[in-house]
Amino acid sequence: MVNGSRDETTDEREWETPPISFVNGANVTAADGDALREMDWPACWECAADLLDWNRPFDAVLDDDGVTRWFPGGRLNASYNCLDRHVRDGRGDEAAVTWEGKLGESRTYTYRQLLDEVNSFAAALRDLGVGEDDVVTLYMPMVPELPIAMLACARIGAPHSVVFAGFSADALATRLTGADSEYLITCDGYYRRGTALYLKGKADNACLSVGQEVEQIVVNRLADGDSVGDHHSYEKLVRDHAGAEVAPVERGSDDLLFLIYTSGTTGKPTLVGHTTGGYLAHVTWTSRAVFDLDPEDTHWCSADVGWITGHSYAVYGPLACGATTILYEGTPDHPEKNRLWEVIERNEVDVFYTAPTSVRSFMKWGSKYPAQHDLSSLRLLGTVGEPIDETAWHWYREHVGGGECPIVDTWWQTETGGVVLSTLPGADRMRPGAVGRELPGIEAAVVDEMGKRVAIGESGRLVLTQPWPGMARSLCTETDWGARRTGTVDGEWQYDTGDNAIRDADGYFHLLGRADDVLNVSGRRLSTAEIESAIVGADGVSEAAVVGGTDTVTGSKVHAFVSPESNVAGDEALRKRVRSAVESAIGPIAVPETVTFTPSLPKTRSGKVVRRYLKAITNGEDLGDTSALRNPEVVGELESLLDE
Ligand code: PRX
Repeated sequence: MVNGSRDETTDEREWETPPISFVNGANVTAADGDALREMDWPACWECAADLLDWNRPFDAVLDDDGVTRWFPGGRLNASYNCLDRHVRDGRGDEAAVTWEGKLGESRTYTYRQLLDEVNSFAAALRDLGVGEDDVVTLYMPMVPELPIAMLACARIGAPHSVVFAGFSADALATRLTGADSEYLITCDGYYRRGTALYLKGKADNACLSVGQEVEQIVVNRLADGDSVGDHHSYEKLVRDHAGAEVAPVERGSDDLLFLIYTSGTTGKPTLVGHTTGGYLAHVTWTSRAVFDLDPEDTHWCSADVGWITGHSYAVYGPLACGATTILYEGTPDHPEKNRLWEVIERNEVDVFYTAPTSVRSFMKWGSKYPAQHDLSSLRLLGTVGEPIDETAWHWYREHVGGGECPIVDTWWQTETGGVVLSTLPGADRMRPGAVGRELPGIEAAVVDEMGKRVAIGESGRLVLTQPWPGMARSLCTETDWGARRTGTVDGEWQYDTGDNAIRDADGYFHLLGRADDVLNVSGRRLSTAEIESAIVGADGVSEAAVVGGTDTVTGSKVHAFVSPESNVAGDEALRKRVRSAVESAIGPIAVPETVTFTPSLPKTRSGKVVRRYLKAITNGEDLGDTSALRNPEVVGELESLLDE
């Protein structure tokens, strides 16, 4: 349990209100918000499902016969909902995806063009033998072919599994095997800060180590022409299937739309599955209600499509709403620190959604960069991934949002599929530093170790107490109950989110970070166990523990404590081996910032490593009582080591 409490009284100065112009035109006004919150929670979600086109209507909102299924009996296709219906409604010439490349180039696909290319690629996939329910892995950077491939898979009922392009060959191999995927779509390479990075070499190595035949399709980004060795060229496949029309496959509401890996508390990444009907209804409704998206809006979610945020709010949500989504391949400070603001100005972006870690970087670079651009098209700002402190919140509103834009601080996870805690921007007041209440249709609570509710203002574990449509399918299959942290407390269903939080007297949640062994590094989720098992794999390492350090700009960073084998020196050479072991097992994002050598790690009498002390040492916090440790002296030694 985390210590902490929050005063029950509400200070009026802590509140911020959205401008009246926004409130009047919002998709969900205060009156709508009240009406939704008074509704039965399943009725709320029926409104969400009504935003979709169903081939066969659902028989009920929820079937909870031991296994939770949303919209049972309903049949639909996600690619139809994201593309065909907008073209059918006469909006084929409107922009669907605008891609901003790393070299400054830009490409826009209208809904009709996107549908055409998705059709061609879907036909090509079929010809290659991809059938319904075959998993297709997509290992691609932020290029338009990534959402095109996702939608082509969705069109033929083949679940996709997108693997972040920054992951290593080993990490890709684990994910190919875990998802039992025989098809891989990748890219020859991409640019980062003007430098070409080769992806295909990593993909080839992963395929070699998987030991099974993997059919590869390669998008040419760096090289011209169709020369992709023994593999299929994406460009050639699309050209050869130009003009093809593939009828969207009707999927059951509970059929898989995609698989995605996330970091859990074990050494292996956790595979999460999202459904076609429940997930799509959830992200479509939240795109309308939380991001206030309309078809005429341009939405920019800056997250990489390799993570859940990009799936839900750069691809499926905005496209299902018929809006324009921006796909940005670059980094925020290349070639200049004004790059994002220039993209917003040029594309007249309405809604900008990013991570607090980015806001803190913008703040550090200074307000002169956004000030060089006309950002008046922005109506709404959003954040996700970690708590945003009040200073960053106010800076974001003032210097990006012109002092006017409402900000939605949205809390959710890979497992929830879409936003579950947030203010409704047209209905609720904002409290900087707090995420807001549950969205209509969501029930959440803060509980103690026994699952009992704690008092208002007291900290505890954040749980969701009713199912929601975007919930990962694996959360509700009986076999997964233990592992997936769902269960019943006094007859009440609870999903343990793994986060600590405080609920204040107004019902707003204040997030306090992860309670389990999951690190949040620059808004990306990593598991301590996964990094530790990579480190222990390095030659000469006996034991390792990693913790997150709080950095004012990047948020958490990885810090490793390593105990070398006897006779092995804890020197620069070992430090290098440790870092490269992590880089090759996971990727550069997980490489420890510091590696501290120690003869032993702090342990309980039963031999369990206690990371809490290592975390306190790293972050200069009070250690508290160490007497329960088997080797309390090691903590003191480590403290003095870090002081050096
Ligand atoms: O700890 C919470 C943090 O990010 C975790 C989920 O990470 P992931 O599954 O990678 O999904 C990231 C994007 C949805 C949560 O358990 N988190 C997410 N949003 C917030 C947050 N912490 C505080 N405030 C938020 N708004």
